[in-house]
Amino acid sequence: MRILAIETSCDETSAAVVEKVGEQKVSVLSNITATSLSIHATTGGIIPENAAREQVKFIIPTIIKALLESEKIEPKSKEEDFKKAEEILKNNVDTIAVTYGPGLIGSLLIGVETAKTLAFITNKPLIPVNHLLAHLFANFIESNNKEIKFPFIGLIVSGGHTDLLYFESTTKYKWLGGTRDDAAGEALDKIGRLLNLPYPAGPEIESRAKLVKHKVNIKFHSPMIGSKDFDFSFSGLKAEVSRFVNEKQLTNELINEICYEIQNAIFSVLIKKSVQACLKYNCSIMLLGGGVSANQTLLARFKTENPKLTIIAPERQYSTDNGAMIGAYAALNPVTKPWQKVESTPNLYFA
Ligand code: KG4
Ligand code: ZN
Repeated sequence: MRILAIETSCDETSAAVVEKVGEQKVSVLSNITATSLSIHATTGGIIPENAAREQVKFIIPTIIKALLESEKIEPKSKEEDFKKAEEILKNNVDTIAVTYGPGLIGSLLIGVETAKTLAFITNKPLIPVNHLLAHLFANFIESNNKEIKFPFIGLIVSGGHTDLLYFESTTKYKWLGGTRDDAAGEALDKIGRLLNLPYPAGPEIESRAKLVKHKVNIKFHSPMIGSKDFDFSFSGLKAEVSRFVNEKQLTNELINEICYEIQNAIFSVLIKKSVQACLKYNCSIMLLGGGVSANQTLLARFKTENPKLTIIAPERQYSTDNGAMIGAYAALNPVTKPWQKVESTPNLYFA
């Protein structure tokens, strides 16, 4: 079954064509992403209205490119490309999948209404996909090359979410806990703002922290590290860093050290609670997903501190928002819904 998958929950407009291979793997035939990140970098964060406007601009060209590339066809002219894409969609695609939440309402609407229109005019089935679950299913993309066995614990660490889940099968899972306020990525981005780092700050904090080779004499708290639940809280950390920064003359070196210690504080609690979940639910496999899972320091710590666990994270290109992960989820959970009943759901959580 070949799926055209569409993702527009935030500032990325992405379309992919994927296909299930074997029991549990997904092959990506194309994955095209346009992003309005540069606009948000100028405002230091996402203004939803701006993100939605960019989604409108990008959606059709992105879908056309994804369809052409899935058949290895080079773009020629606007008209020819449109015609060819229409043929590919009609003849080579079986199903359409789309993120229906959670996300920004304006952004979600663009993808969902486009997908519904395509399903209606081509008379193809539509699979609505939960963006958060899809982040974890990016690990099932074939090129990841790791064998995933159930049950496993999933940690979603993105700009908007931090959640721990227990998965018994592709369809059966239990939400264990999540952030009570800011998400891990959101905390990195907001702290980045305090330090005048470019948005999104996660990658910059990672590279600056890597430059620190000496012992750091700063200590930030790992919020809720001692609590017995699987919840997180990161907004206090932002306040702690803000107080620290206000009393200091920020040098380049000090910023690097703050970055180092911020990662330490956030990653320690992420790792501790994830490992506790693995122990409680008797899982030896841990799957990561979401933008923050692109962080090599986080992955290295997870692995070296827990040699008995198998830690799996998506390839870099599939850790941040992308259409292929939406296709991967849909390919392994092909639950269709009449297009008339699919609605953008900004506050979608775990059903
Ligand atoms: O999953 P994602 O693309 O979007 C959401 O669904 O939120 O995640 C974006 C988040 C941002 O907060 C960004 O700072 C963070 O992922 N991020 C990183 C890295 N790359 C992206 N955080 C830490 N280290 C990275 N290398
Ligand atoms: Zn995401």
